[in-house]
Amino acid sequence: MYSDNKITRRDALKRMGMAMVGVAAASSGLFSLASCESMERKRIVLYFTGTGNCLYVARQVGGQGAELLSIPQLMKQGRYELEADEIGIVYPVYGHMPPNMVRRFIQKARLKADYMFAILTYGNRKCNAVEIWDDIARQAGKSFDYIATLIMVDNWLPNFDMNEQVMIDKHIPENLQRITADLASRRQWYEPVTEEERMQHQGFLGRSGIDPAEGFVLRSGDCFRVTDACIGCGACVSLCPRGNYSLGSQGVKIEGDCEFCFACIQNCPQKAIRFAADSGVPLLSNGEKNPNARYRNEHVSLMDIKLANNQF
Ligand SMILES: Cc1cc2nc3c(=O)[nH]c(=O)nc-3n(C[C@H](O)[C@H](O)[C@H](O)COP(=O)(O)O)c2cc1C
Ligand code: SF4
Ligand code: SF4
Repeated sequence: MYSDNKITRRDALKRMGMAMVGVAAASSGLFSLASCESMERKRIVLYFTGTGNCLYVARQVGGQGAELLSIPQLMKQGRYELEADEIGIVYPVYGHMPPNMVRRFIQKARLKADYMFAILTYGNRKCNAVEIWDDIARQAGKSFDYIATLIMVDNWLPNFDMNEQVMIDKHIPENLQRITADLASRRQWYEPVTEEERMQHQGFLGRSGIDPAEGFVLRSGDCFRVTDACIGCGACVSLCPRGNYSLGSQGVKIEGDCEFCFACIQNCPQKAIRFAADSGVPLLSNGEKNPNARYRNEHVSLMDIKLANNQF
């Protein structure tokens, strides 16, 4: 008479109790209100990416229904006016600073939102990246409600072996979960910065000679060389957010101001792009840690990066 699915009277009462709580909460509007509010909110997430970390994070913090917009694409379209209930920005820190394009975008953009957040990804040392972004945004007349950093794989080829980097557990899912919960509750928070971190950043600026008013802006033709391994696939042409690559009868040509995002060197399917030995750039004086290792975020495809960055 009794099947394996039978439940005891005690279980039945417990289930009924839970169901009643659900009904009561729904009729009081508690759950329905919260879910309706989050469903109705329009969230835009702007991102810049070289190797996919920030695109992955933008997707995760965007959740279902968010509009994801690539900053290089917006700049290509001359689209600087955006309005939503919530606007977020996700970018990789370069020398603890935003990429030059992100800086130029925020200076020009007109953003209208009730809640604004910024997630800054980094790989090893964030220093005072949060304060740097806050300063740049405020100078551009924007104030953010929430600014946090998120440690990911470090794609800085001169110092790190990409094969080693991907093996390090940086607790990305846990950190992403914390940030996503903060955003769901529209937390007002800036990640704290220490005096030691401010001094480390000053030391970096002194050593690298990078202009803090611009961030990384180098000459791509000085920094990169294409080897005989090139098969002329043209991927680099679409990967560069500055449109610095062209492919002609003479092969690949590289010229123009460079973000140093590494979309080209990290994503070339042939590993045919290398740092120039004679670039004269102090940060490149040691070459690469492992010239055979390249990185792209495991959740992001080559096509995703091309679509995010292509300028043609
Ligand atoms: C030019 C350049 C400079 C970087 N500077 C830093 C840095 O100062 N501190 C740090 O921890 N990571 C630094 N990184 C690592 C990236 O911020 C990090 O890997 C980021 O998640 C890459 O994001 P993406 O995959 O979306 O391009 C740098 C990477 C590049 C290419
Ligand atoms: S992506 Fe690499 S292999 Fe393809 S054209 Fe550019 S340099 Fe050559
Ligand atoms: S040349 Fe390479 S590193 Fe420079 S902006 Fe283009 S893709 Fe990024």
